[in-house]
Amino acid sequence: MKNKTILITGGAGFIGSHVVRLFVTKYPNYHIVNLDKLTYAGNLANLKDIENQPNYEFVKADIVDSEAMFQLFEEKQFDAVIHLAAESHVDRSITNPTEFVFTNVIGTVNLLNAAKNSWKDKLEDKLFYHISTDEVYGSLGEEGIFTENTKYDPHSPYSASKASSDHFVRAYYDTFGVPSLISNCSNNYGSFQFPEKLIPLFINNIKNNKLLPVYGKGENIRDWLWVEDHARAIDVIFHQGKVGETYNIGGHNEWKNIDLIKIMCAIMDRKLGRDLGTSEKLITYVKDRAGHDLRYAIDSTKLQKELNWIPSLQFEEGIEKTIDWYLENETWMQNVTSGDYQKYYENQYQKR
Ligand code: NAD
Ligand code: TYD
Repeated sequence: MKNKTILITGGAGFIGSHVVRLFVTKYPNYHIVNLDKLTYAGNLANLKDIENQPNYEFVKADIVDSEAMFQLFEEKQFDAVIHLAAESHVDRSITNPTEFVFTNVIGTVNLLNAAKNSWKDKLEDKLFYHISTDEVYGSLGEEGIFTENTKYDPHSPYSASKASSDHFVRAYYDTFGVPSLISNCSNNYGSFQFPEKLIPLFINNIKNNKLLPVYGKGENIRDWLWVEDHARAIDVIFHQGKVGETYNIGGHNEWKNIDLIKIMCAIMDRKLGRDLGTSEKLITYVKDRAGHDLRYAIDSTKLQKELNWIPSLQFEEGIEKTIDWYLENETWMQNVTSGDYQKYYENQYQKR
């Protein structure tokens, strides 16, 4: 493997930290620069185990600051970018859409400009790999599945901002020849996920005997993938993906929210030594999320056939491992739920 200097943005977040860990440990001859603003979702404790590796470097910066991005690209002469930095929570995008335009749209365009400027006509072997979501495809009914050719139809400010950033990445490839790749992944779960998202939020609430706020009737369906399998897919696509292409990533693992929540309750009853059925009593149906997409499902046949990637873990095993991780990492959870988190929680759930 050739020496490379790779910029990973958003590496202190949930998925980014798994990608940084994988690249730093698997590729000692790559120099990995993790750029992160350290918003509420960014946490350097997610990378404690690799922070002293000689091929790892952290830079605190905001991708919305175009000047800082130009300077960083000039200074480091990156060979490639894996772009994960984003505002990522749908509920927050409903409360504050503009922040999503700044980071997800303008931030992405700033990075594209900095890459274009730095790489100029030496584009060979360079790569801008943009990490996106299946939510850009919109919402499915009972039938159907998202393929790479599904028309974009975003509904939330979050998915609209991600769709916009995807369009800019393609536009910079078509117009300026900036070599790019995009992957669109389904919902991730696993260690280090901020407890605003369904799975870590509910694990934490069950543990603390707090109500479980199920939006609407709990009938929405999500397709869940273990985060380390997403990181493995990113590795495969980064090294073997065809420039200009899009790859869908997913685990063929659809769950109705309420069924998933009941499984989590049962596993937690067992692990916490509670009578079966105790945690389920915490379920509370609350006002639905505005514009709540009914169903996501990803067809990842292209990735499986062309690049030989398949998920390594069955959901039953993955969810057990995930629950164990949150129960064993109580201090991590306490740290991220102190301070501003309480305010967020009250604003988000009191009004429902
Ligand atoms: P996250 O919210 O856990 O992490 C985002 C990271 O980006 C944080 O470390 C944050 O500090 C950083 N960041 C935010 N704004 C920034 C800015 N202006 N400048 C620099 N850094 C900034 O998100 P995640 O769940 O790890 O998602 C990572 C990426 O993967 C996102 O692009 C998201 O759209 C995409 N994605 C997520 C999922 C999922 O299920 N979580 C699924 C598919 C795709
Ligand atoms: P989430 O983890 O926010 O991911 P996304 O909205 O990006 O798919 O939510 C997953 C599902 O869980 C979604 O259908 C909304 C639902 N949900 C609840 O019912 N209650 C909650 O408190 C949260 C955060 C989510």
